[in-house]
Order: sequence, then structure tokens, then C-alpha cells
Amino acid sequence: ILEGSLRPRRLAEYIGQEKIKENLGILLEAARRRNEPVDHVLLYGPPGLGKTTLCNIIAAEMGVNLKTTAGPAIEHAGDLASILTSLQPGEVLFIDEVHRLSRAVEERLYSAMEDFALDVVIGKGPSARSLRLSLPPFTVVGATTRVGSLTAPLRDRFGAIYRMEYYDIDSLRMIVQRSASILKVPANDEGISEIASRARGTPRIVNRLLKRVRDYAQVRADGVITREVAQKALNAMEVDEIGLDLTDRNMLLTIINKFNGGPVGLDTLAASTSEDSETIEDVYEPYLLQLGFIARTPRGRVAMRAAYDHLNLTPPGGESGPN
Ligand code: ADE
Repeated sequence: ILEGSLRPRRLAEYIGQEKIKENLGILLEAARRRNEPVDHVLLYGPPGLGKTTLCNIIAAEMGVNLKTTAGPAIEHAGDLASILTSLQPGEVLFIDEVHRLSRAVEERLYSAMEDFALDVVIGKGPSARSLRLSLPPFTVVGATTRVGSLTAPLRDRFGAIYRMEYYDIDSLRMIVQRSASILKVPANDEGISEIASRARGTPRIVNRLLKRVRDYAQVRADGVITREVAQKALNAMEVDEIGLDLTDRNMLLTIINKFNGGPVGLDTLAASTSEDSETIEDVYEPYLLQLGFIARTPRGRVAMRAAYDHLNLTPPGGESGPN
């Protein structure tokens, strides 16, 4: 089975994110009825929650092609021009990591999004001339893990802005059930629940865990995913009961043991854990913040009471300590 075949292709198949589904459904239906391209859409939130999947669904529901690029891949204004001038009417242009566009490229994008017009400069120096090209109407779908890093003018050019949330346990169970049936791997309800509860609210993680538990079930058991099989497989992968892995625990233990619970600055934490600070900020930190295990203060990250409790450690100040 090819990677990506677990992704839902249509909105009706998409599980969870109920608010987004409702609002996006209206946006798409209205555009279809008016025979217009959809307004530009910005999707933001932690990685693995389905931004790329939703973008594919937008194109599929509109019956148009999708072209995919990413902020750092569009280096020069000329790269943007060649992408935009090759779009067919109504097509969707997915720009992943849209917060990482260069300033020069971003400024060209404004008129392209607003007026479907592109200013291109021909030549250099005193003889340079500017030419305004008109583009077919199209839809930009931007995705970012950091909406705060978008400039206001760029953000304002998206007609619909959707925040992706961590999935609740019922949605994750339904996703495991669906994926298990696509992969044709037998799993009972307890086995499914065990995987769902260790997935950090994230479909990408739930599907990855499912595949590894399937491996374990086939090699060390009779191929069926039960609670016991899932527990053994996930424990062997060092994914704990609430889904934290070695890196998450290393992050917490570093703050607690090396920095007395914090505050510790992001770059210092990155250096001490050998992780990169962007990965900490975009991938690890959001779920630990959501759990209330860490907090961000002006002077850095601090470990909270709940983190000590989870790791069976005594917080500073003992049982009656802060938090
Ligand atoms: N697979 C991954 N994410 C999914 C979702 N949100 N709905 C259904 N299947 C999925």
C-alpha cells in the first residue's frame, strides 16, 4: 500500500475538525454554485493534523488540479512568476510553510492574490521596465505551523483562516478504525483505543503507530491488534501511556534536572537536548504546552507540576510546591 493512501480524499471522509469541515463545506459549495474559484484559504496549527490533506480535498471537491510548493522553495520573484503563469484557471496553489516566503516574493504575491495581477520587472538598471501580467483566477491555500510569523498584509489576503486543533480521542479511534480497515489489519476495540490514546491528538502519529503495531502483531503475535499487543508494541517503541516519546521526556527531564525546572531559553534547551530549536518549537512544544506540562514565560520554558507528576518526580518545594 502506497504512502498517503490513508489520507481521506473527500470532505465527507474526513474525520474530526468539525468546525473547519462545516465552514469549509460552505465555502466550497458557494464557490461551486457561483462557478468561481474558492477564496484563498490559510490553514494553521501543529504539524500532522491534516493541513496538506485538507488542501488536497479542496482541490478534489472543486474538481481542479493542485500545484504544491513551499515558502523556502520560492527563492526569487522569478520563481513565483513561473509558478503563477503556469496555473490553469481555478487551480489550487498549495504553499506549505507560507511564513517562510522571502519578503520580495511575498510582496509580489499580494497583487497576485488580490487582483490576479503580477508585476514583472524586465531588464536591469536604468533600462529596467515593469510589466503587469494578468493571471487567471486561482486559489492559494497557505499552510503554517506559526500564524504569528505571518505578516499582517499576507494574512489579510486570505479570505478564510482555519485553525487546526488536536483531535479528540473518539476522532482518533475512528481514524485508526478506518486506517486498519484500509490496511486490512484485524484490530479489536481495545487495541484501537490503546493506539488512539498514545497518538498525541495527531492523525499522522496515529497512523504511524498503527503501522508499527501491525508489524509487531505480525512478528510477535498472531497478526491481530489487541490491547496487549498494542501495549507491548508501543512500550517497546518507548511511547508512554500518554504518547510521549523519548524526545518529549528528554525535553522535560532536561528542563527539570539540568535547569532546576527552568526557566530555560529555547536555544539553550535546544543545545542541551541536541534538537533543533525550530523542531522543538513547532513539533515538541505545542503538545507539551497543551498538556500543561510546560509553560512559556518571558525568560524561557518552565516545567509545570503536571510534568513532575507524570514523571513521578517531586517538584521543587515538595508535594505542596507551586503550580
Ligand atoms: N487519516 C488521517 N487523517 C484523517 C482524517 N482527519 N480523517 C480520516 N482519515 C484520516
